[in-house]
Amino acid sequence: MKSMNELNVPVPTKRSLVVRNNKEVTKEQRETALKETEYSMFSFPADMLILDFLSDSGSSSMTDLQWASLFHGDESYGRNKGYYVLLEAVRDIFERGNEPKKSINLILSGETNVKKLMEELYLKSHEGGFVNGGIHQLARPNAFLVPQGRCAEHLLFSTIAPILKERDPNNAYYIPNNGHFDTTEANIAANGMCPVNLFSANLFEDFPSDQMDVKNPFKGNMDSKELINCIEDKGVESIPLIYLTITNNTAAGQPVSLKNIKAISKIANSYNIPLFFDACRFAENAFFIKAFEEGYSNHSILEIVKEMFSYVDGFTISFKKDGLANIGGGLFFRDRGIFYEKFSNNGNIGTKLKEKQILTFGNDSYGGLSGRAIMSIAVGLYEVVKEQYLAERIRQVREFALKLSQKRVPVILPAGGHAVYINVAKFFEGTDMKIDDFRGVGFTIELLKHYGIRACELGPFAFEWDKKTPEQRKGILNLVRFAIPRNVYDSSHIDYAVAAITELYHNREKIPKVEVSRGANLRLRHFQSGLKPIYTK
Ligand code: F0G
Repeated sequence: MKSMNELNVPVPTKRSLVVRNNKEVTKEQRETALKETEYSMFSFPADMLILDFLSDSGSSSMTDLQWASLFHGDESYGRNKGYYVLLEAVRDIFERGNEPKKSINLILSGETNVKKLMEELYLKSHEGGFVNGGIHQLARPNAFLVPQGRCAEHLLFSTIAPILKERDPNNAYYIPNNGHFDTTEANIAANGMCPVNLFSANLFEDFPSDQMDVKNPFKGNMDSKELINCIEDKGVESIPLIYLTITNNTAAGQPVSLKNIKAISKIANSYNIPLFFDACRFAENAFFIKAFEEGYSNHSILEIVKEMFSYVDGFTISFKKDGLANIGGGLFFRDRGIFYEKFSNNGNIGTKLKEKQILTFGNDSYGGLSGRAIMSIAVGLYEVVKEQYLAERIRQVREFALKLSQKRVPVILPAGGHAVYINVAKFFEGTDMKIDDFRGVGFTIELLKHYGIRACELGPFAFEWDKKTPEQRKGILNLVRFAIPRNVYDSSHIDYAVAAITELYHNREKIPKVEVSRGANLRLRHFQSGLKPIYTK
């Protein structure tokens, strides 16, 4: 008799106990709604969809342990108990590797020993890591809760911009990244600095679909030679920070290897420039390292995460990613690390960040989040580093990409961690498509209209090709993204999406060009401008 793993079908890893039924919506009703919402994917009513691949952010299902934790949520205005639990969870996940303390269990189990609670949670002091505790968090704050990732980006860049300006009002500042997410790019630009994308040179290299289970070329890496060129060209003083996004959402959700993290950290250290992670999807990135990077197969996810974070000086994170929670974000930097040293010469950078946090997002112990949300994040941090969960998650994304490629639909291979990306230039090969006719957007409009499936263009429209210089255009890829919410869809959803996308691929010459009918010059326009499809066939 074969063992369960020899059956050649994935072994189920979970059961769903809540159901949301889809509505029966007609094509005509979707057409009306599309017209009324100016063909913007962001404005289409979600309740009228069959499948929603707009984002994996905040759209994942919580586990039963997370739902249960909501009852422990403490909505106090000052120092709710979840605040302490979350800070401890951050230390556990990012700094303690295989030795998490799990002080969260004191709260979840209703511990009544007040002395123990005081010693292990409420008055515990820590220093030297990403999360100071007790008096040190008061005197030298380095952990900041905010409502979501972009708030952390805003907090960081709007606080350092005036410091840099004061230092040298005439200098231009550059922030290199292996791939800036759109909000990161916009927050940097809105604060008068220049975002630079240093994609890995192998990003568009072909990859055989049947090799996805056995190897991975880590196409999300930063091009380290380009980084050195950039620093030498612009000058060390013009690079306030280097950023690595794990996984690299803008570069097709591809992972970054530990080898690359180490190499970039070495370069950053040699120039004394702080290195930060955009840590959205850190757990999925860690899984790729375990599965495919030499020397890591016997390491636990927690050990790998600990090593990854040992090379950076700070990170911004959206807790909406990695299936962690439905809302939340944070900014963390190493106590008295390079960032602290570099930006604290006019006072304490932590105090400046805290002032802005309180001014904009609420006081430091809730940062614009409900006490219930804080508990779900703390529990979620432990849930998303579970290997069985991650293996199934990555398997499903891979299944989607594999099925599309078997139908010859051009997708970026290997599949990344959270989404499947269509290579738009290849998709439209043989048609009269031009880069600036936003045909990728036309594809998303048709997919929604005919099949009730929502996806998102991340290409010349989203990244504003028409407004950029030839040099800046090099940082724009032409992709349509299907981001997969975690623990929401099963193989029947994937099969429906594959059938619909394949049908459109066969009819690609009928897909319309798209014009921006309103708000072409708005910042982050893909969230808010109006569109118009131009049908010629
Ligand atoms: N960084 C990356 C790499 C992201 O993917 C996102 C969001 C953010 C920062 C900002 O975080 O949404 O919590 O403010 N990405 C979502 C997406 C929206 O659909 O890819 P946020």
